[in-house]
Parts: sequence; C-alpha cells; structure tokens
Amino acid sequence: RLRGVVALDGPSGTGKSTVSRKLASALGATYLDTGAMYRAATLAVLRAEVEPSDSAEVARVVRAAALIVGTDPERPSVSLDGADVGQEIRGPEVTGAVSAVSAVAEVREQLVAQQRRLIGEALESPGGMVVEGRDIGTVVVPDAGLKVYLTASAHARAQRRTAQDVSEGRAGDLDRTHADVQRRDALDSGRKVAPLRKADDAVELDTTDLGVVEVLEQLHKHVESRG
Ligand code: C5P
Repeated sequence: RLRGVVALDGPSGTGKSTVSRKLASALGATYLDTGAMYRAATLAVLRAEVEPSDSAEVARVVRAAALIVGTDPERPSVSLDGADVGQEIRGPEVTGAVSAVSAVAEVREQLVAQQRRLIGEALESPGGMVVEGRDIGTVVVPDAGLKVYLTASAHARAQRRTAQDVSEGRAGDLDRTHADVQRRDALDSGRKVAPLRKADDAVELDTTDLGVVEVLEQLHKHVESRG
C-alpha cells in the first residue's frame, strides 16, 4: 500500500477538483489533475486538426506533444508545447472532444506512464500526493493508501458545473451542461479501456447534499484512519 497517495475518482461535477486541491494543501501534499492532462492532449489533437476518432493519428499527435502539468495545489498549471493552456482546456471545444480522445488506448498508455512517473517523484517527499481522475484507484495506482469515489446526482453535478463556468467567466447553460454531463458519463463509463468505475476498496461519498467543508471533513477522517 502506498500510504502517501490519495486517489480521488468520480464523474464530473462532484466537486472532485475543489476538494482534491484543498485536501492536498491541508496535508502538505502535491496534487495531480489527470483530467487536465487528457484535456491538454485533446487540445493538441484539435490543433492538429485530427479527427478524435482516428486513433492512430490521435496517438501520434499526443506522443509528439510536450505536455507539462504542475503539481502545486495552490497553483495548478498545464502547458502544451511551452505555452500555458489552463484556460483553453476548459472551453467547450475541448470538453466536447475529450471523452473520445481519452478512450484511445495508446493515449491512456502514454498519459498513465507520465502520471506514474510524477506520482513516483512525489512519493519521495513527505507530504505525498492527491491524485484525481476517473481510473486512479482502478488502474493508475491500485495500491493507493486511500481511495475515494465521489458521486452526486446528475442534477447537482450539472448545477455545480454551470456555477463553475459562470464564476470562471464562461457562458453558463444548465440544460446544455446537464446533457454534456450525462453524455460524458456514458462515454467514460462505457469505454473499453479503463472505464470510470468505483474500485472495490474505495470509500464512496455522495456529495449531492454536502458542501465543500463537509466533504473535506469526511476526507480528513478517512485519511486519519487509513492503513
Ligand atoms: O476531470 P475532467 O472533467 O477535467 O476530465 C475530463 C475528461 O478526461 C473526462 O471526461 C474523461 O473523459 C477524461 N479522463 C479520463 N481519465 C482520467 C481523467 C480524465 O479518461 N483519469
């Protein structure tokens, strides 16, 4: 068991990113946003004007892309070919294509290898790492010291995503976001490689009626009692 690793998985809109970052800060841990990596890879594919369904070309573009992700929970950052893409990867074009790109087996192989390298480096420092994604507890770090699976109703998740879009200056449209959340859930859960699912030994936390502070309280309890 890798005591220093907290794996946080779940669909979008469960508050995963917010609580992962806050938990990492509180623990003095580093933080890895694997969704940002799949999003940056998707941006590379869109820029190269490759069809997300053309898996051989997609894999080639992602292999050639210089993708760097920061691990400071206070200042998350992601760059592609030397330029910061933190804003662009949250836009509708990337969000619309990311599930298709992340279903490509060779893309996952490349990014999982990079994720494991970063996690290995983090384990050399005392604070450890909080890693968030869809397949962290099942594939990337199956021996994580603590695995958490966050859920929430589709309605609550669409509301959170919309509020987040508005607060970050993007257009907010609840119906569209609700449809997008359900579409991505179906694609992420239904894909062949590393589908979104709860690891058997993950703690499940339904955040539908919980605020960030309450979720963090629960997480801290689990961190304290982990083996
Ligand atoms: O977490 P976020 O919404 O930024 O993730 C964007 C997309 O990246 C997900 O919908 C999923 O398709 C993909 N993803 C993945 N595996 C991960 C993290 C994200 O397939 N570990």
